[in-house]
Amino acid sequence: MSRLLVTGGAGFIGSNFVRYFLEQHPGGSVVNLDALTYAGNLENLAAVEEDPGYAFVKGSVCDRLLLEELFSEHRFDRVVNFAAESHVDRSILGPAVFVETNVKGTQTLLEVARQHGTERFVHISTDEVYGDLGPTGRFTEETPLAPNSPYSASKAAADLFCRSYFKTFGFPVIITRCSNNYGPFQFPEKLIPLMIHNALHDERLPVYGDGTNVRDWIHVLDHCRAIDVTLRNGRPGEAYNIGGNSERRNIEIVRQILRALDKPDDLIEFVTDRPGHDKRYAMDASKIKRELGWEPSYTFEDGLRQTIDWYRQNRGWVENCTSGDYLEYYRRNYGERGQDG
Ligand code: NAD
Ligand code: DAU
Repeated sequence: MSRLLVTGGAGFIGSNFVRYFLEQHPGGSVVNLDALTYAGNLENLAAVEEDPGYAFVKGSVCDRLLLEELFSEHRFDRVVNFAAESHVDRSILGPAVFVETNVKGTQTLLEVARQHGTERFVHISTDEVYGDLGPTGRFTEETPLAPNSPYSASKAAADLFCRSYFKTFGFPVIITRCSNNYGPFQFPEKLIPLMIHNALHDERLPVYGDGTNVRDWIHVLDHCRAIDVTLRNGRPGEAYNIGGNSERRNIEIVRQILRALDKPDDLIEFVTDRPGHDKRYAMDASKIKRELGWEPSYTFEDGLRQTIDWYRQNRGWVENCTSGDYLEYYRRNYGERGQDG
């Protein structure tokens, strides 16, 4: 039986992955290493706490000594690296921690894993490393990296370290680059959960610019399935794009959420645009379909409906996230933003 290290498994995608993995592979073993930043939440893992195959360790991917101890003790043969600072707006307010965790943390983890002979290392990256698309076309794995935010620059740097560990040391790294995830347990700083939260509280819904920016949305469980298949059958040294085939303008999504909650459109407030805001992302995910047989299963409409229901039914979870530091972040990010136009 393989021994898997997941990093950042208390966050949104990581916790969905840990639950999915243990459900799909009964008897499987997962150690979850997470620093429990503002985005890490052990409530997300309540369903697996008692699973004998699951263990949690609080700590950072930047802590080399801790990593050495964990690798010596557990002899991980596989690693999935989710740990990161993940929010673009926070990277604009304070980029330094993004370099620390996303770049240095990834390199430290690669190094320790390499020295312990890990057989497969899946690094979770993002479509944002490719930069901005015009009105047509899609990113392929051959698209040059051209990140525009401090967040995406740090993710691109981490991708390049992964590439270098494969080319220089023959270390079996695989990179996955996914589009925008949505679904249960997403921290309400990201577009969809933030808009659901504000609409439920009859608060203003802050849409950046004119709301015509486009993202390619994927349900988090479709992403988890893609990671699982990559972990088993992906080819070392390769990158795989993962996308939801669901391009939507931000404003369409915000209106859809208001309709679903029976709230008026005049809750929308167009606010000053995000600096360096990429206009459009869209993924060509034909390689992972061709090589690993993966494709998304959710339609955006079903996934969004299910997600809205989840947030309605889990208000306690949301309230726990949105007290304390969240209010300070909200004031810093939105307080200074004027109305647009
Ligand atoms: P998240 O912010 O919800 O979770 C990040 C997790 O990493 C948290 O649990 C946090 O405590 C942990 N963490 C932060 N710094 C750490 C450190 N130094 N050591 C150990 N743990 C640390 O993020 P998410 O949305 O779940 O994203 C997970 C990964 O997927 C990230 O690498 C992100 O770049 C990538 N990704 C996200 C999306 C998306 O739409 N959310 C899309 C593509 C790729
Ligand atoms: O594309 C994958 C990326 O998707 C991941 O790598 C990132 O970790 C994840 O945060 C996400 O980045 P985005 O910047 O695309 O997601 P976010 O939810 O922050 O914003 C989605 C779009 O909505 C974007 O065009 C900005 C806009 N937006 C966002 C917020 C938070 C608003 O108009 N208003 C808002 O308040």
